Amino acid sequence: MAWQTVGVDFARLVRARRMTRRFRADAAVPESVVADLLELAGRAPSAGFSQGWEYVVLRSPAERETFWATAGPDQPDSRTGWLAGVRRAPVLVLVLADEDAYRRGCGGADKGGIPPAEQDWPVPYWLTDTAMGALIVLLGATEAGLGSLFFGVPGPRHAAVKDAFGVPAGLDLIGVIALGEEERRVGGSASTRPRRPVSDYVHWGGFGVAPAGPEAGLSENAGQTGSAAES
Ligand SMILES: Cc1cc2nc3c(=O)[nH]c(=O)nc-3n(C[C@H](O)[C@H](O)[C@H](O)COP(=O)(O)O)c2cc1C
Repeated sequence: MAWQTVGVDFARLVRARRMTRRFRADAAVPESVVADLLELAGRAPSAGFSQGWEYVVLRSPAERETFWATAGPDQPDSRTGWLAGVRRAPVLVLVLADEDAYRRGCGGADKGGIPPAEQDWPVPYWLTDTAMGALIVLLGATEAGLGSLFFGVPGPRHAAVKDAFGVPAGLDLIGVIALGEEERRVGGSASTRPRRPVSDYVHWGGFGVAPAGPEAGLSENAGQTGSAAES
């Protein structure tokens, strides 16, 4: 299928995006590039158009040092060098989700006016919506020729990180996006574990049901091509 309807080779972009864990310290990312990526993140879909995401950009050495002092492991991992490689990223973006924005939105007249105490969300959509925005940033960074990494902050550190940057306590820190030029590609789980074939995770008409007919072969081939191309 041709994906170029809006001028982007979407399949190429998706396959090209990989997590970066070794950044170049000497290559800055212009503020305008970060601003553009985050403007695109605002195009993410959101339940009830709640748009309950917040992004805190950390660019100065002092800001980044504060982040690592608050969030980072106490000891560098000498086995993988993860901390040293990621610490060099010139930009860190805290990715935050605002549950209250959803509960307030649902309480609005246009959404039925259901009080927060009576709202029964089957899925925490503030998290899913913010994650969709994060993926836009990762893909946009790839398109801009930048490396990027989405990584989590250990749970016991969340309060301190939020406090250090004035983030309201009620917001969820779903992760951090590091941005910068990639020094070199290293490891990660995807280098030691195979990507699941499409036939393993796509079910047709019911769980565990494989597609019938000639398209079955095509789907399987597409998955294999992707795995081979990125390894
Ligand atoms: C929610 C989430 C949390 C992640 N946390 C980390 C992390 O803390 N450290 C890290 O190095 N990679 C982290 N990753 C990156 C995954 O390891 C990576 O996406 C996976 O191995 C597949 O590799 P790829 O993204 O390069 O295709 C995270 C990814 C997601 C989606």
